[in-house]
Amino acid sequence: MFYGLSRYLKNLLPKQLFYRGLLIVAVPIIILQITISVVFFDSLWIKTSKGMSRALVSEIVTIIDIYNNESEYNKKIVTDLYNQNFNFSVRFLENEKLPDIKVDRWFSPMDRTLRRELKPKFNDYWFNTMAYKEVVDLRIKFRDGVLQIFFPKERIQASSIRIFTLWITLPAFLLILIAMIFLKNQTRPIIKLAEASEKFGRGEEIKEFRPSGALEIRKAGYEFDRMRKRISRHLNQRSEMLSGISHDLRTPLTRIKLQLALIKDKEISKKLSGDVDEMEKMLNEYLQFSSSTFADKTETFDISELIKSTVRKYKNINISLDQSEKTIFNGRKNLIQRCLNNLIDNALKYSKKVKIKQEKFIKNIIVLIDDDGPGIPISEYENVIKPFYKIDKGRGKSKSSVGLGLSIASDIIRSHGGIIELGKSELGGLKIKISLPV
Ligand SMILES: Nc1ncnc2c1ncn2[C@@H]1O[C@H](COP(=O)(O)OP(=O)(O)OP(=O)(O)O)[C@@H](O)[C@H]1O
Ligand SMILES: [Mg+2]
Repeated sequence: MFYGLSRYLKNLLPKQLFYRGLLIVAVPIIILQITISVVFFDSLWIKTSKGMSRALVSEIVTIIDIYNNESEYNKKIVTDLYNQNFNFSVRFLENEKLPDIKVDRWFSPMDRTLRRELKPKFNDYWFNTMAYKEVVDLRIKFRDGVLQIFFPKERIQASSIRIFTLWITLPAFLLILIAMIFLKNQTRPIIKLAEASEKFGRGEEIKEFRPSGALEIRKAGYEFDRMRKRISRHLNQRSEMLSGISHDLRTPLTRIKLQLALIKDKEISKKLSGDVDEMEKMLNEYLQFSSSTFADKTETFDISELIKSTVRKYKNINISLDQSEKTIFNGRKNLIQRCLNNLIDNALKYSKKVKIKQEKFIKNIIVLIDDDGPGIPISEYENVIKPFYKIDKGRGKSKSSVGLGLSIASDIIRSHGGIIELGKSELGGLKIKISLPV
């Protein structure tokens, strides 16, 4: 049960660090304010109002005593005195009745205290605290008429609750605002670090990363930067080594090719030159793999045009292309082209008919490559994406396969923040679905 509750709470709470921090600061402030308000309201405000209302009711009782027992002359003197000293206005309305409808509010603290104090003293009364801004209209049944008394609201109300609420909420808002500014500054370096890591993970170049913020965050940033530089150096070394080897091997290979042409036995020469061609192709692929990331700069280009021209270069009637509208994409053009080449090469290598479809959606571009070959078993989907992995060597028409094509293609798509998925095609072979974010 507790597990479910904590999971529910976790879902409810904000996910971002900034909002979590804000919650940690704001919740205690708000709880404190509410507690103070309740305590103050109950102990001071209500009790004071009660005392004041009681004193007021006693004064009214005195007036009624005087109205009951004194002569007309004395009544006038006392009424004038009350008016002068307490700001009371008292008058007797003969033959008048109390209004039928009560207008005192049930939830107003002022009305409630006044009602509580009036009830034990008078049977028939009526009052209205809303009709006038600063005065209460109180009517009490007296003999065959009504005694109407106007008295200032401040006689029964300690101080304005609005001012009190303002004073209690304004500092709270101010505190939360200050906390927000501080928190924003504290979370910015973490966001910066996360962004830089994401960029580096995608294979994009990070020009300069300056660690900032609190000591621990700064240390994390500094260590990230060191790690990034080490990995970059390592990758560069690997690419340089691979391209160095491939490059150096090309010269002797060319020389072998020339010498092969001179061999008289044409059969041996043909076989050997086939092997040499294969070696050359492999070397080219190693070279490609070593420089598949990091190398190019991003640019904005028309990806539908790129697909069209790539397909056109094959000059193969077995490739059909279905495109919707012109689609602008921001990425590394050469890499995208290499990815397409690898996938189309595979399709042509393992099947006859290839169908390419490109669609544009609001958030992404989808490219589908279908073929009618043998396809790939579902259990191998994960493996074929790994470098140097081939399903079985006798599969393709050509033996010159290294097992890097799909691996490079998926690297390229992922480095653009996209997804590559393998599946079954309606044509019977493999379906490759590429989704690139626009
Ligand atoms: N369209 C396809 N139809 C059937 N099998 C495929 C298809 N594409 C790839 N494969 C299988 O997946 C394996 C890995 O493909 P990948 O492109 O990585 O290597 P490769 O084509 O063998 O070699 P390379 O592309 O480096 O010359 C291939 O060996 C092949 O068995
Ligand atoms: Mg391939």
